[in-house]
Amino acid sequence: MNTSTRINRDASTQTKKGELDWWQRDDLCYRNGELVFAGNNVADLVWEIGTPGFVYSMPRVKQNLGRLRDALDRAGLKGRSTILYAMKANRFAPLLAAMKQSGLCGIDACSPQEVAHAVSCGFEPREISFTAGSLSRKDFDRLSRYPGLFFDADSIHGIHQWGEMFSGSEIGIRVNPGLGISRQGNTKLQYAGNVTTKFGIYKEQFHEALAVAKDYGMEVTKIHFHTGCGYLNAQIPIWESIIGECKWFVEQCPSVTRVNVGGGLGVPHVSADEPLDLDLWAAVLKRQFGDSGLHVEIEPGDYVMKDAGLLLLEKTYLEKKRDVLFLGVDAGFNIAPEPAHYSLPFQPVPLYYRGEALNPCHVVGNINEALDVWYENAMLPDMRDEDYLVLINAGAYSASMASNHCMRGEFRERLLV
Ligand SMILES: Cc1ncc(COP(=O)(O)O)c(C=O)c1O
Repeated sequence: MNTSTRINRDASTQTKKGELDWWQRDDLCYRNGELVFAGNNVADLVWEIGTPGFVYSMPRVKQNLGRLRDALDRAGLKGRSTILYAMKANRFAPLLAAMKQSGLCGIDACSPQEVAHAVSCGFEPREISFTAGSLSRKDFDRLSRYPGLFFDADSIHGIHQWGEMFSGSEIGIRVNPGLGISRQGNTKLQYAGNVTTKFGIYKEQFHEALAVAKDYGMEVTKIHFHTGCGYLNAQIPIWESIIGECKWFVEQCPSVTRVNVGGGLGVPHVSADEPLDLDLWAAVLKRQFGDSGLHVEIEPGDYVMKDAGLLLLEKTYLEKKRDVLFLGVDAGFNIAPEPAHYSLPFQPVPLYYRGEALNPCHVVGNINEALDVWYENAMLPDMRDEDYLVLINAGAYSASMASNHCMRGEFRERLLV
């Protein structure tokens, strides 16, 4: 299947008329026809920061974290739950430092380099939970420099390696319930399911894993699972089934005091997507763990960061080819790979809008690859006299996944505090 088919399928689920209003909220909206973000006129941000440029709103990040915290508290998990920000979503140093200062979260890290970076931004190793696979001897050696770091083994190999270094310690085990979740069933965003994946330990090997941990005198105190990304309200029943499956692992292991239910909470990408109902989500945690006495960890990346970031772009050209109008911009999928890799559309938005008629155009980047299409049939006003536009939802898995493909890897970043 080619990229354009994939993106079109996603676009077909939305109502065109809502494209320039579904995403508007108090801190990201048009005021007198001018786009405003976190109290700033976006045209001024373009002038100050330049393009391509990522701009992140710390107030929005705090709001997102606060909403999660409130939902957990309302579900009766106050004092029994922890938010660990999945820093793979965005590791911009000023952002991590501000998150540490906020006191609202710890860190989910997935490489020794991420651990070192989080520590350099102010987090203590004991505030960091580490979950990753395919770790080399060098990786384990580096991790051993951070006493207090909590390690979730993703394989029996990982249990052996950790046991060699820290026999007698506590350890977590990432499990794989064989059931995945994702935005609209998008299989590229699923980490578990019918197909056997590299993530976590399956039921079939779980007792062997426990025996290996015991051989090293280690106590398994946490069960961890993360089986996919981008889920919204429609997927909540699947999420509850996943938790149901994962409780089998908890039941096998009386020493478990914590359960980490991963990240994966999604945000709307198109007008047809409804925002995740956090009370519905937290009610699942209450039902499944309310009476258990277990401490619940969550490790969201997308939900915290995605809608807190914009990608500022300059228009490079506007030209009709056959019957398609193309709007080119000065950045390609290499600096924000999600639309191309995972068919997750980032809505293009003009800096000025006063209710003019909208017409379709394909917004494309500057990389010599067929998949370098930001958005097909974006409904935009006449852009002939406009020089700039932005993509919303660019705060997560964009800069952190950027490459220097075609030597076009340069971009600016700015945190608005
Ligand atoms: C183990 C683990 N936890 C948390 C996350 C964060 O996921 P999301 O950004 O969808 O919340 C990921 C993402 O890949 C992950 O692999």
